[in-house]
Amino acid sequence: MSEIDPTLRDEQYQLRVRDLHKSFGSHHVLRGVDLDIERHKINIIIGGSGQGKSVLCKHLMGLLKPDRGAIYVDGEDIVPLDEVAMNRVRRKFGMLFQHAALFDSMTVEENVAFPLREHTRLSRKKIRELVTDKLELLGLRNAEQKMTSELSGGMAKRVGLARAIVLEPEILIYDEPTTGLDPIATKNVDNMIAETARRLGVTSIVISHDMASTFRIADHIFMLQGGRIVASGTPGEILRSDNPDLRLFVETSGAVKFTQGRARGGLG
Ligand SMILES: Nc1ncnc2c1ncn2[C@@H]1O[C@H](COP(=O)(O)OP(=O)(O)O)[C@@H](O)[C@H]1O
Ligand SMILES: [Mg+2]
Repeated sequence: MSEIDPTLRDEQYQLRVRDLHKSFGSHHVLRGVDLDIERHKINIIIGGSGQGKSVLCKHLMGLLKPDRGAIYVDGEDIVPLDEVAMNRVRRKFGMLFQHAALFDSMTVEENVAFPLREHTRLSRKKIRELVTDKLELLGLRNAEQKMTSELSGGMAKRVGLARAIVLEPEILIYDEPTTGLDPIATKNVDNMIAETARRLGVTSIVISHDMASTFRIADHIFMLQGGRIVASGTPGEILRSDNPDLRLFVETSGAVKFTQGRARGGLG
């Protein structure tokens, strides 16, 4: 399994997963996941809760080891790597967790500077420069001296994202970034994801339960169900899918409509 399949070295793909399996005890969560993530695109993974979306993403950045299968990051299978080699690969990733997990006792600026203080030997001046740059990008320049406990949910997400991009990752993973946000804050987070993808040229992988957001910003949508990717395509392709599970899942959200066997997106 550790051999690199030459057909998988395609430059177009940042990440490719083949036949990934993972069980916890007798619970077989991932049952042969195949996934191709294109470079620089916004890739969204949808699926019911408990289907293994978070578990899949933890595998992508080497936080969990699969029981079987291969995960190619830039053509390199990361499954057989030891911790030292894995840490090198992890540097390619930034992650925005469902709960931003900011440090309450620190200011916005200190939160964003934290990864640089932990993982680099840059000067204070250089760190300040990089932090200011990211705060600027996310419209947080006026909030830099605020304590994170004072922030709204949407603002906290932005700080979490500023912190996730401060080490300049190539791949950004967002795990349900709009959970618990109101519709306006949700739209702001969508815009933030799209803007970050465009400005930084990162490859984005977003786990989402929010169909309106998904169809608003995705370049490519994957549905994870029963431990496998059961549907994959552009939003347009997904809307033409006749996979009944996919249609039920998307339709139940009320955000997107299929009509007369064909789909119509109510995308706003
Ligand atoms: N570390 C773990 N140990 C045992 N079971 C786990 C662990 N992580 C996840 N699971 C189980 O795997 C399944 C998928 O979880 P998860 O990936 O979090 O689902 P979701 O699609 O909602 O993100 C769930 O049943 C969860 O309880
Ligand atoms: Mg999850």
